[in-house]
Amino acid sequence: MLTKVHTGLQSVPGVWWKPAHKAEKIWVSIAFAWCIVLFAMMPLWHWKGGQNPSGVRTRVDPKAYYARTVAFASRYKVGEDRGLPIVQPPAGADVYLVGLTFQWYPILKLEQGKEYMLHLSSLDVNHGFSLYPLNVNFAVVPSFDYALRVTPTAAGDFRIICNEFCGIGHHTMVGRVIVVDSTGRSVADNSTAIIGHGGAQ
Ligand code: CUA
Repeated sequence: MLTKVHTGLQSVPGVWWKPAHKAEKIWVSIAFAWCIVLFAMMPLWHWKGGQNPSGVRTRVDPKAYYARTVAFASRYKVGEDRGLPIVQPPAGADVYLVGLTFQWYPILKLEQGKEYMLHLSSLDVNHGFSLYPLNVNFAVVPSFDYALRVTPTAAGDFRIICNEFCGIGHHTMVGRVIVVDSTGRSVADNSTAIIGHGGAQ
């Protein structure tokens, strides 16, 4: 017995041309309404909930941004950790951090309770700025300088994890932010933690 073959010339079996069942209409409506709720939450979270902060975005040449970051690092350098400068800018300063395959440059040393203008950008490809163990995530995109007003609320030795797959060394792309309290001490100075190395310098 031959298997029945369907071609585009014959209508397919089924009832797809009949109007949708009432239950289907209800479920599609519920899904659509929920989409609208979630969509509305995006701006609402900005005003209430402390999420989706709006930063200052400007276009920037990646090489110029990198040069700016290197100049910033050499100006406020206070130490070194495995080849990377530890940089301590004064309160209120513009702070530059650059993501590059596969490193965060430089290491930042900030003071708890002081406000800074944190600039984020990339030299090469998209990276993800994820401040561990806090729930802070930002896209780091080449050609865009994304600046945020930040005030560290807790002293400690924090890690920046890259959360955007950026290549073969993505998993090694770990940076460091040290937040000291008013006495100049970070709560846990974990000097043996692994910091990513490599990439263009
Ligand atoms: Cu940078 Cu993943």
